[in-house]
Amino acid sequence: MTSEPGNGRTLLEIADLVTPMTIRVAATLGIADHITAGLQTAEQLAAETDTDADALNRVLLHLVGAGILTKDGTGRYGLTGVGEQLRMDDRLHLNGGSGRPPWLDMKTAIGRAELSFVRLLDTVRTGEVAYHRHYGTTFWQDLSDESSWDDELYALAAQQIVFDGDKVAKAYDWGALGDVVDVGGGDGTLLVTLLRAHPGLRGTLVDRAAARASQTIREAGLDDRAQTIVGSFFDLLPRGAGGYILSRVQSDWCDADVRTILGRCAEAAGPGGKVFVVDEFATDEQAQADTATDLRMLVYFGGRERTRAQVRDLAGEAGLSEESIIRVGEWTIMKLTVC
Ligand SMILES: C[S@@+](CC[C@H](N)C(=O)[O-])C[C@H]1O[C@@H](n2cnc3c(N)ncnc32)[C@H](O)[C@@H]1O
Repeated sequence: MTSEPGNGRTLLEIADLVTPMTIRVAATLGIADHITAGLQTAEQLAAETDTDADALNRVLLHLVGAGILTKDGTGRYGLTGVGEQLRMDDRLHLNGGSGRPPWLDMKTAIGRAELSFVRLLDTVRTGEVAYHRHYGTTFWQDLSDESSWDDELYALAAQQIVFDGDKVAKAYDWGALGDVVDVGGGDGTLLVTLLRAHPGLRGTLVDRAAARASQTIREAGLDDRAQTIVGSFFDLLPRGAGGYILSRVQSDWCDADVRTILGRCAEAAGPGGKVFVVDEFATDEQAQADTATDLRMLVYFGGRERTRAQVRDLAGEAGLSEESIIRVGEWTIMKLTVC
């Protein structure tokens, strides 16, 4: 049975901005956690969150109508089943946690990035990145100015690697490369996973912020086999390594930037050198289906969800040819050789 597009909701219901914004306000203020802790009237919640009691109460009333909160005859708010999902969960959302996705909180890096959707029309009109238009700076620059956001992103990224990194490590004889450069390596989780699985391997991680990766490496006791470099993958990369890994970076960038980044890897690897793009590529069907992620990449970064063929074509333009493909669950290791 095919469901009617829009699931029977009216256009106004689908286009509503009020409910999404009130949910985000409640998430940002931690309303569900305060309710669970016993602060249940609008006055108590306003005092706890340092907000205006009247305005907050009106937000909460809307959330009652939206089926997120309940309100009893004494003016006490409670959580519905859906409202329970607004509670902070120690486990992050991606890790199967049932609590609120961190990006509903407007104080988080991604929650803040979500707000740049109000500039989508500008992006459509001009091609300019909505985030930049909205905040006057790039997502990555903002991160550099607010280091706690780095921690949040690293935690999200590392979670997925904790799940799949071992499989990536086992799927290829990384040790035979001698040494690798993990380009845009994040918090170092993948590099450490590879080094643990391949005792002969050495690694260098290059990222715009590398303090967290240094800590990961130190805590893993791998200082003698790994180093970090603070640097940009738009600049020269360390030359002559056995392999260059680009894990989950490409979708954050537009085609021209991906060409440049891959070109930097190819240049550093030298003729015959190896570059590995490790990613969850979209299938043709997904590329059409996961339009929300694709639009997020567009709005936050000017990036896009890409199929393997699209990345292979960009690699070709950067002087790299596809040598082989290894599928590891949802992940793909695309092995490229410098032409
Ligand atoms: C989505 S994360 C991927 C991290 C890691 N490779 C992984 O698979 O989890 C993208 C990474 O690119 C880094 N990055 C962004 N701009 C960069 C730049 N110009 N040069 C180097 N790294 C950059 C970010 O700091 C972040 O660690």
